[in-house]
Amino acid sequence: MNVTTKIITIGDEKMKPEALAEILKPAAALLAADKTVAFPTETVYGLGANALSVDAIDQIYRAKGRPSDNPLIVHIASLDMLALLAEEVKPYARDLMAAFWPGPITFVLKKTSAVPMKVTGGLNTVAVRMPDHAVAQTLIALSGKPIAAPSANLSGKPSPTTAAHVIEDLAGRVNCIVAGGNTEVGLESTVLDVTGDVPVILRPGKVTQEEIAAVVGICEVDPAITGATIDVSGAAKSPGMKYRHYAPDAHVQVYIGTTTDVIRTFDAEAHRLVMEGAGKVGILTFSEDLEVLTRLIKTDALLTDRVEFISAGSAKDLSVYGKVLFEALRDFDERGCDVILVRGVEEMGIGGAIMNRLKKASEGKVTRI
Ligand code: TXA
Ligand code: MG
Repeated sequence: MNVTTKIITIGDEKMKPEALAEILKPAAALLAADKTVAFPTETVYGLGANALSVDAIDQIYRAKGRPSDNPLIVHIASLDMLALLAEEVKPYARDLMAAFWPGPITFVLKKTSAVPMKVTGGLNTVAVRMPDHAVAQTLIALSGKPIAAPSANLSGKPSPTTAAHVIEDLAGRVNCIVAGGNTEVGLESTVLDVTGDVPVILRPGKVTQEEIAAVVGICEVDPAITGATIDVSGAAKSPGMKYRHYAPDAHVQVYIGTTTDVIRTFDAEAHRLVMEGAGKVGILTFSEDLEVLTRLIKTDALLTDRVEFISAGSAKDLSVYGKVLFEALRDFDERGCDVILVRGVEEMGIGGAIMNRLKKASEGKVTRI
């Protein structure tokens, strides 16, 4: 592919709405003309194009190198756009939209005939989200179109949480990239099926099962995402589940256990891997663990220059872990790590979404110690 990519940089994220609209005009015009534009949202960067144009959608699949049976999320800036996309919105789904939109949750709804099958991967449902981000909202509103936008990474790579990641993956492949700082959540939205009598989580994200149940009394989780490993048989309801995802080039190994056990295992495993010829080993764990681990490894002559550390923030605040996870996976690749040792977490709250991504990145290599 050889497309000229226009880069628009948002210098000040707190700028006035009129100034933001002025800067985003050319990008909105490209979207209105069925071209591709990558932009930040509060979850991860998205690669957007007019959801109602088959030609525009084709460009997304081509730019990402993504299989076209993997459906896209359609982004809207106001509820008016919803009627165009969804045939039916159940009352409980309306309540959830009122509670969480704009925000990091996507609703799967029965689609109208206006939504091309290309967008939904042949399904008769459509996934819709109203992002909570000034750039995304302004861009969608200015373009006047519902915007289909998968995460703005090459297919199979971790989702991009910085403009640099998007440029790395998509420069020369898309018409425009809006560079607008690091994304706040760092993990993709919760995907919730609201076509049935009760809501069902198809992909865990920042909005949790507990939070959804608190609004409508009940929330189920698709069995495909609750197991120890991810179901890759293709039976998953969210078709995105069946592809290799979030995978850095390095091999990822995840460990869940007490702090003492995890530290001991990381030290021993790093030693074993280097002895067996690994060039470099990456370690992603809580800042508290790193205080101990860096000391241990610094005093080990074999390991000093062979281990790269990245902090997942404090164990006391998992939202930091969510925010840095994808960036860390990309960073370890850049630092030349062959293997990444990662501390897993319990699947509660945002921990469920973090473990979902870690299971995929490690292709199920999760060990409880
Ligand atoms: O936070 C996000 O959701 C980001 C930002 C850019 O909004 N977007 C994103 O899109 O993660 P993508 O394409 O990488 O993931 C879309 C997910 C996939 O797991 C896909 O299978 C699921 O949503 N999905 C889309 N349409 C669906 C449908 N009709 N039924 C079930 N799952 C659907
Ligand atoms: Mg994605």
